[in-house]
Amino acid sequence: MDLQSLPEIMIEAERRAPAEIWGHITGGAGTEMTVRRNRLGLDSLALRPRVLRDVSSIDMTTRFLGHPLRIPVMLAPIGSLALIHEDASAQAIRAAQAFGTMGFVSSVATPGFAAIAAAAPGPKFFQLYIRGDSADVGNSIDAVKAAGYDGIAVTVDSAYYGVRDRQLLQKWKPPAHARPGKEHQARVTWDTVAAIMERAAPLPVMLKGIQTGEDAALAVEAGVAAIYISNHGGRQLDQCQATIDILPEVVSAVGGRLPIVVDGGFLRGADIVKAIALGAQAVAVGRLYASALACAGEAGVVRALELLEGELSNVMGLMGVTSLAALGPQSVTAARPA
Ligand SMILES: Cc1cc2nc3c(=O)[nH]c(=O)nc-3n(C[C@H](O)[C@H](O)[C@H](O)COP(=O)(O)O)c2cc1C
Repeated sequence: MDLQSLPEIMIEAERRAPAEIWGHITGGAGTEMTVRRNRLGLDSLALRPRVLRDVSSIDMTTRFLGHPLRIPVMLAPIGSLALIHEDASAQAIRAAQAFGTMGFVSSVATPGFAAIAAAAPGPKFFQLYIRGDSADVGNSIDAVKAAGYDGIAVTVDSAYYGVRDRQLLQKWKPPAHARPGKEHQARVTWDTVAAIMERAAPLPVMLKGIQTGEDAALAVEAGVAAIYISNHGGRQLDQCQATIDILPEVVSAVGGRLPIVVDGGFLRGADIVKAIALGAQAVAVGRLYASALACAGEAGVVRALELLEGELSNVMGLMGVTSLAALGPQSVTAARPA
């Protein structure tokens, strides 16, 4: 497929995917206010370009937990990619690796994290939901290490499954919904995180789903390797802030001690610039690459990343910056969305 622009990916995916699957991918919890706010937050920031600087060469590379990234964009974990294609999880990770970045494999992805790792050797992270007691979790972590993952992101925003009006109205549930063991999520605490870190060592452990400076400060104290700001793409708790609006308080609480990743509504090069300007090391995309998979599988994800790279380079050049480090709070300002 000849995908020429990022919006085309979303339009084409909606055209191709069955309505209930498109609704599942794009939908969120409750009224979907959190989903909309993620976008509204990004659109409520304007760029402050500087001019008359030599921008003939632009460096978009960065590092995350020691891994080189061609652009500061990773693939967020998505558990239900098999709804798009049975091999979609491995396709996504392979695409990220081929492009020169990394992805997170969901612990509920099929055909399972070991098979996905075998089909996509190379750097990748694992996302952990707690399913089962501490012995079960310990065994899973051992297996994740043996499968060659480079780090573990524990999702901490899912004590309960978000109530999703759209699914209830559609009278449709994803097949994975029935899987057992979810009840253990409601008992996860900072003690669980400490036990996971001990078992996972030497792998770095990140927390995915931090939404306040207070929890970010506790995460630093707990000794995690990175903070992943997320509201689960608005799929868990409705009526939350946009993640881009949370970023400044987390950056201030962390004080440069840990790298920060943020996801939620990122679709364009300018969105990436805004997050880097406000202090994130990288962003993650979710629905964008799920849509790219629906359009053109592995090649579609590579293309989506190339299009993001093209936009990022264009926006950076027009802003008068030639490296990610040159972006800062001075690069953005509050503005009315239109
Ligand atoms: C269909 C779908 C399934 C998801 N499954 C998981 C999952 O298994 N584990 C997880 O931590 N997050 C999951 N997420 C949340 C994503 O990792 C990410 O936080 C979110 O999609 C980012 O927002 P964006 O889609 O607007 O880019 C899922 C999101 C979607 C859209």
